Amino acid sequence: MRAIVIQRYGDPGGLAVVDVPVPVPGPGQVRIVTEAIGVGGADTLIRSGALAAYGFTEGHVPGSEVAGTVDAVGAGVDPALTGRRVWGFTGTGGGCTERALASAADVLPLPPGLSAVDAVTLGGSGAVAHFGLAHARFAPGDAVLVRGAAGGIGVMAVQLAARGGASAVAVTTSSAERGERLRALGATVVLDRAGEGGPETPAGYDVVLDIVAGDGLPSFLDRLRPGGRLVAVGAVGGQPPADFGTRLMAAFRSSLSFATFSLDTVSPADRRAVRSAQFAAAVRGELTAVVHEVLPLTEAARAHRAMDAGEVFGRVVLVP
Ligand SMILES: NC(=O)c1ccc[n+]([C@@H]2O[C@H](COP(=O)([O-])OP(=O)(O)OC[C@H]3O[C@@H](n4cnc5c(N)ncnc54)[C@H](OP(=O)(O)O)[C@@H]3O)[C@@H](O)[C@H]2O)c1
Repeated sequence: MRAIVIQRYGDPGGLAVVDVPVPVPGPGQVRIVTEAIGVGGADTLIRSGALAAYGFTEGHVPGSEVAGTVDAVGAGVDPALTGRRVWGFTGTGGGCTERALASAADVLPLPPGLSAVDAVTLGGSGAVAHFGLAHARFAPGDAVLVRGAAGGIGVMAVQLAARGGASAVAVTTSSAERGERLRALGATVVLDRAGEGGPETPAGYDVVLDIVAGDGLPSFLDRLRPGGRLVAVGAVGGQPPADFGTRLMAAFRSSLSFATFSLDTVSPADRRAVRSAQFAAAVRGELTAVVHEVLPLTEAARAHRAMDAGEVFGRVVLVP
């Protein structure tokens, strides 16, 4: 079967289509014949080599979420899953193949009416957005800023904050055109990447959901109201500056909170419950899966180039 492999860290040219053996599900795993594979910011970070310190090696198969049909199950897994159409989390890699393995604990049946493409657009990002906002103790009436709102996580966070009764949903983005698309999803204030906007800009925010980090991170702490909470869920802009700790300590004067959040710290049962609710909401038309482009699996490098070039609004999806 075909798989995408990172043969060489760096630019997307290091991705190759290779022939690999069909994997056999181990205990607790299912094998999914993939119909759709999501491409996320984490995939491009791994491919670039930026996460080599975390144990990723060349030869890695990227892709962490897939949707398709279960064709085999490992020991201890309910055989009734065979033949079911599911969404599945494959971990930090292993998704960019024609048959992927996933832990049965991280597999969710697709409701009727939800396409595989929409499932991989919502499944990972929607849960990060939901639990990231919850980690920030988001409540109705809060003024929310989503930093890096045009990506897979951001477009979900904007919708969830708006549906959750935020008094304002501000977004950072790099173009007016993206700002308009984000407004259509529920954003009420459009800012540039530095967090600057027009006269409609709120004086401060109760919650900042930050997908970017990087040099600009401290200046977004400064935008919190007293008692405000900033939760970092991503780092597409790299690491914060070396004096971040000092800036963080200065924030004590306003009782500000800085937290990080990883979906890995949420139980599989809670993740399933939230995904299930979001999938159902998407079928009802209450949440939008923002699909930037659907490309053949063999064009994974093109998908990564589009991500690297900052062209992607929402999610790029690969189909075998
Ligand atoms: N916490 C978790 O459990 C979890 C799970 C999965 C992934 N992640 C993390 O989430 C991140 C990927 O999220 P994603 O796929 O939603 O992001 P993404 O699509 O890669 O990027 C989000 C947006 O950020 C903006 N951006 C990119 N580079 C920037 C920069 N240098 N400065 C300012 N803005 C910039 C871009 O929008 P504009 O051009 O419009 O500004 C981009 O669309 C990764 O860091 C990944 O590790 C976290």
